[in-house]
Amino acid sequence: MGPVKVGILGLGTVGGGTVNVLSRNAEEIFRRAGRGIQVTHAAARDITRARSCDTSEIQLTDNPQDIVANPEVDIIVELIGGEELARDLVMKAIANGKHVVTANKALIAKYGNEIFNAAQKKGVMVAFEAAVAGGIPIIKAIREGLSGNRIEWLAGIINGTGNFILTEMRDKGRDFSDVLQEAQRLGYAEADPTFDVEGIDAAHKLTILASIAFGIPLQFEKAYTEGITKITQEDVSYAEQLGYRIKHLGIAKRTDSGIELRVHPTLIPERRLIANVDGVMNAVLVKGDAVGPTLYYGAGAGSEATASAVVADIIDVVRTLTADPENRVPHLAFQPDSINDTPILPVEDIQTAYYLRMSADDKPGVLAEVTQILGDAEISIEALIQKEPQNAETQVQIIMLTHKVYEKQMISAIEKIEALDSIKDQLTRIRVETLDKE
Ligand code: HSE
Repeated sequence: MGPVKVGILGLGTVGGGTVNVLSRNAEEIFRRAGRGIQVTHAAARDITRARSCDTSEIQLTDNPQDIVANPEVDIIVELIGGEELARDLVMKAIANGKHVVTANKALIAKYGNEIFNAAQKKGVMVAFEAAVAGGIPIIKAIREGLSGNRIEWLAGIINGTGNFILTEMRDKGRDFSDVLQEAQRLGYAEADPTFDVEGIDAAHKLTILASIAFGIPLQFEKAYTEGITKITQEDVSYAEQLGYRIKHLGIAKRTDSGIELRVHPTLIPERRLIANVDGVMNAVLVKGDAVGPTLYYGAGAGSEATASAVVADIIDVVRTLTADPENRVPHLAFQPDSINDTPILPVEDIQTAYYLRMSADDKPGVLAEVTQILGDAEISIEALIQKEPQNAETQVQIIMLTHKVYEKQMISAIEKIEALDSIKDQLTRIRVETLDKE
């Protein structure tokens, strides 16, 4: 049998990496897939540009529509990113009976329900391992490796750019925008880097993980999303003094009343392995009822790291071409007619502990006022630091760690504390997760 023909839409960082990995490892890949895999067509915005991969045997076009309509192509690899054009191309590819591999997390998080439905009707595969945590095979791990478990929660560092920024701020005291520019130069950041720093990219990925973990439809619009732009050097340093690291986490947790789905900066005890995941690396901690906590670590972005997941998906598709088509792993891990409607909780109903930092007048009684408000709201304090004012300062910094409470209790307490005459500016509030076995 001749090689399976692949058309790649987008020859940027990941597209170039995919061509290189397929070519360099062609022999091993053939042994694994049972068929040769040949990139015959590729679409790029500017086909005259010099590339990081050899395109001499690839038919190039600047019109991706030509590739999805081409009857010669068996598998479409969508790497152009973005939403509307990608959605149109993927839906057309499916309608034309082609299998699809994509690294597009926004596409799957927002339109995955519709895409999988169309793919199921047409009997084609849509594979998206590269959409979450770059090269880490986390989708396969949850969907297949942990399928005997009831997943209780997962928590992940799933945006490499954000983690790179927080790490450089902590280790080198570097400036936020300077590190962001470096991440852009290295090809880690999204086309619109606010997706990285405001947590949107992580929320796309978390939405996908939650569906696979809990068997619920993709519901990106219900994810609570908070970015890292308000984290200061001071917060990073106070957290360290308290024995914590600040990480930008995506958390999905099953509770009796629904599912918590949230992305926000989080204090994590520094002894946790995940607290020590630095730079552009990603890690996802998954707690299953049978296996307990499991941790998956690796490169979350970058050319060949992401291509590793894209190529694995291509191989999976090729393997099914010679296997029983009914015998496939469902897109969202659970059978399509068994996806349930467990509600996603509004953020007010989540439960977590908090780090609070506030600037207060340096005078007697202020701390008592603050603790009174917290006490009235039934929020107990676990640790407290009060910084001596520097030189002529009339304000002191008060840093507190609280026990676990409902977010709505904390919102109301914060409003009251901020209304005190002795408190200056807004409080800084960062959620704390111990990520222990419970
Ligand atoms: N911008 C993303 C990140 C790329 O930094 O993690 C990988 O999805």
